[in-house]
Amino acid sequence: MQDTASPLQTTDVRLTLPGAEGPVEILRGIDVAIRAGERLAVTGRSGSGKSSLLAVCAGLEPVTAGSIRLLGEELSGKSEDGLARLRRGRVGIVFQSFHLLPNMTALENVAIALETAGTATGREAREAARAGLERVGLSHRTGHYPGQMSGGEQQRVAVARAAVVKPAIVFADEPTGNLDAGAGDSVRDLLFDLAIKDGAALFLVTHEPVLAAACDRQIVLADGVVVDEIIR
Ligand SMILES: Nc1ncnc2c1ncn2[C@@H]1O[C@H](COP(=O)(O)OP(=O)(O)OP(=O)(O)O)[C@@H](O)[C@H]1O
Ligand SMILES: [Mg+2]
Repeated sequence: MQDTASPLQTTDVRLTLPGAEGPVEILRGIDVAIRAGERLAVTGRSGSGKSSLLAVCAGLEPVTAGSIRLLGEELSGKSEDGLARLRRGRVGIVFQSFHLLPNMTALENVAIALETAGTATGREAREAARAGLERVGLSHRTGHYPGQMSGGEQQRVAVARAAVVKPAIVFADEPTGNLDAGAGDSVRDLLFDLAIKDGAALFLVTHEPVLAAACDRQIVLADGVVVDEIIR
């Protein structure tokens, strides 16, 4: 039952969090499904709930109500360990703020993803990491620590790290947000290759109309609900 036609399926997902003036309804009934190999752009104004939706769909935050099936498994009721096991090697995440390990070089940050997934070790992992960094134009920064890289460079390391394990689904939060056109294109190509060649589903949060238009489908969030859907 794993990796079925729908790597991600949400049903009436709601998220309510405490705010300064009482509870805030951040997600108000979201139904989204992504097929294997499908590139879904998640768009909407700042504060509309995109990162929150990503967080609950990737099992990083529990929902208040509703159901999320990720790679064929219902997320609610799973322990942190169970969620981590489900994600390991099969779910890639690119955070809006990168989340690189500060005491590891760019190469080590990418290689560790493979080692954690258990799909490659040592030299093999480092070679795959080097190839991934090359694809995003960072061959000259493999030995740099996150603190020695620009925001855009760190972002590209984060994308290479998410992609290197060839996950079944990738969640990426503004993966081209800090990049110039050339670097943005290399990130898009790397992610799109995962979908086209390896059948990965992409959940791609973006503010960039050109990137959204290049995806198979776009949903628009406003105030925690899907207000529009565009099929390309
Ligand atoms: N921990 C929290 N507690 C209360 N409210 C929160 C919390 N995190 C986010 N919010 C609120 O939820 C709403 C949605 O936030 P979210 O980060 O999902 O937006 P977004 O669409 O990703 O925006 P952006 O494009 O700026 O990244 C915002 O109004 C935000 O203020
Ligand atoms: Mg966000």
